Amino acid sequence: MNPTAELGCRYRPEWHYAAERNWLNDPNGLVYSNGVYHLFYQHNPHGDVWGNMSWGHATSADLLTWDEQPVAIPCDEQEAIFSGSAVVDTSNTSGFGVGGVPPLVAIYTSAYAPGSPLAGRQAQSLAYSTDDGATWTKYAGNPVLDRASAEFRDPKVFWYDGGAGSYWVMAAVEAEDREVVLYKSADLKTWEFLSSFGPANATGGVWECPDLFELPVDGDPHDTRWVLIVNLNPGGIAGGSAGQYFVGTFDGVTFRSESTVTEGLQTDGSRMAEYGWLDWGRDYYAAVSFSNAPDGRRLMIGWMNNWQYAAATPSDGWRSAMSLPREVRLESRGGRPVLVQEAVDPFTASGAEPFTLGRQELERGITWLPSGASGDVLRIDAELQPAGAGKTGLVLRASGCSALDSGSEQTVLAYDSVTGELSLDRTSSGNVSFHDTFPSVERVAVPLIDGRLRLRIFLDRCSVEVFAQDGLATITDQVFPSDSSTAVGLLAEGDAGTLLSLTIAG
Ligand code: FRU
Repeated sequence: MNPTAELGCRYRPEWHYAAERNWLNDPNGLVYSNGVYHLFYQHNPHGDVWGNMSWGHATSADLLTWDEQPVAIPCDEQEAIFSGSAVVDTSNTSGFGVGGVPPLVAIYTSAYAPGSPLAGRQAQSLAYSTDDGATWTKYAGNPVLDRASAEFRDPKVFWYDGGAGSYWVMAAVEAEDREVVLYKSADLKTWEFLSSFGPANATGGVWECPDLFELPVDGDPHDTRWVLIVNLNPGGIAGGSAGQYFVGTFDGVTFRSESTVTEGLQTDGSRMAEYGWLDWGRDYYAAVSFSNAPDGRRLMIGWMNNWQYAAATPSDGWRSAMSLPREVRLESRGGRPVLVQEAVDPFTASGAEPFTLGRQELERGITWLPSGASGDVLRIDAELQPAGAGKTGLVLRASGCSALDSGSEQTVLAYDSVTGELSLDRTSSGNVSFHDTFPSVERVAVPLIDGRLRLRIFLDRCSVEVFAQDGLATITDQVFPSDSSTAVGLLAEGDAGTLLSLTIAG
């Protein structure tokens, strides 16, 4: 039986987590414990649109195959369970642990319902698990941090161990104020204000889902910076939801940005392209990192959607998927540290022989690849040498091997040698009519390195994730093509460039 004909299978990704049924948004409580990666997430257990917000739960040993678990923290008449984080409380600072086993503690936002005495407020609360994430108990003393605010949410908690001491730090947002607020605690239950950051750089929407972590620069443990992640909606670089990041220092009290381009609330968007963006596409939002990941890796997952049209994307009983997990690093480029990202690669295990092509001049127009190179679940690695004036790239998820005509489906990834921009065009990618903001062309300026452009592309039924120049810039977009639109072509317009190498794994 054609698997896509099964109920709930239309567009269902192979390698990206989506709930069996119903709605999903932000990743929550990303934590590694005892050999298991836990992915909690904003979930509506009762429908395929946002509502009844609860923490869904999935587990994985390898970040690629996920087992769905029962809902971890359900909403009730008093509160919806909004986004937050989870930690392994190794020293049992919270006292929730029993029998010497460290508890898992979730720090989430209580979005108080009309039935609650705190109706309309958002405050931070705890739930804990003493059976490695299987069952959760809400702390009787909730909320643990209440600013009497209606827009105070998305706590990300980590253990700080530095010059100023050793304690828990919480980064959360005052969303409307475009402010990240930092607090400290010895036991996760009592919190003391440290400082705030913002508004700065992109402020065209509310600030949500922050994260703060330290990374070595170019792998040097003696030269580190702190990265502050701030998701915002709308006001993203490609329209709607997106994630931005700041690089700077954190002394245990204050985050000081070294990458601020504009301070305060911005009314004109003329400097948007100068800000640090986690992704230049439309569908990478609410991205946060794992706590306690092994080997010092900093692994992030984003929600592969955009609030502009998330409620309208084609659904087959489930709606929305997560991005592939990405390892992030800081590398010096042009004298300053920037984030580079590498996806956890589903195609490393030996599968079918990959399709490969060696160095060749590109033919002008589209060169369609043989059917062995086609598919809707692929990893494509291409190295291109764009020519003087023209466009070079790839045609993905295409419906036919004839010249592109108005009726054909295709998603086009092209580098323009004149503008120096890489673009992903999904205007003809398939079903684009479900929302008027969906058809779009995403663009990012990408410097060639020794005249070359390296691309790694993951296709997974309803998504295209592009990692350019070894993760220096990424573009993530959903697409909804026909099942049969699986052709891949090489594109050259104007001065045709050179293909240096191509490997397609499927
Ligand atoms: C981000 C967000 C968070 C909030 C959650 C509610 O997408 O709006 O700020 O906690 O979704 O589902």
